[in-house]
Amino acid sequence: MRNFLIGTAVVLAGMASVQASNLNQTRYIAANCANCHGTNGNSVGGMESLSGYDREKFISVMKAYKSGERPATIMHQLSQGYSDEQVAAMADFFASQPRKR
Ligand code: HEC
Repeated sequence: MRNFLIGTAVVLAGMASVQASNLNQTRYIAANCANCHGTNGNSVGGMESLSGYDREKFISVMKAYKSGERPATIMHQLSQGYSDEQVAAMADFFASQPRKR
């Protein structure tokens, strides 16, 4: 029983650190968008904010840029660089950011 509890604690601690590192990875990816869309997706003007962006809409917009279905000057190229998993992680990240602007 004691070993079981210790084993469970180790597994839970491991899971928490995996989640933390995924969040850091997502922040790192999302930082690539900051030049144009602002820090944490809060645009300083002239560009759409990504903070508070609806998760499902974000995923469908990124897909449409990637396929060329949605007209774009820049995003059709940028969107090529991200996997579905990375887009989903960014969708969660931006949806969770409070919209300031
Ligand atoms: C070099 C500037 C630039 C960077 C960097 C950039 N974007 Fe964009 N983004 C744009 C422009 C410009 C548009 C308008 C569509 C177009 O012309 O490509 C846009 C539009 C969007 C839209 C649609 C907003 C709306 O509701 O109309 C989303 C979503 C988006 N970008 C996500 C991202 C994500 C995610 C990243 C980072 C991976 C990113 N962008 C990085 C310039 C940029």
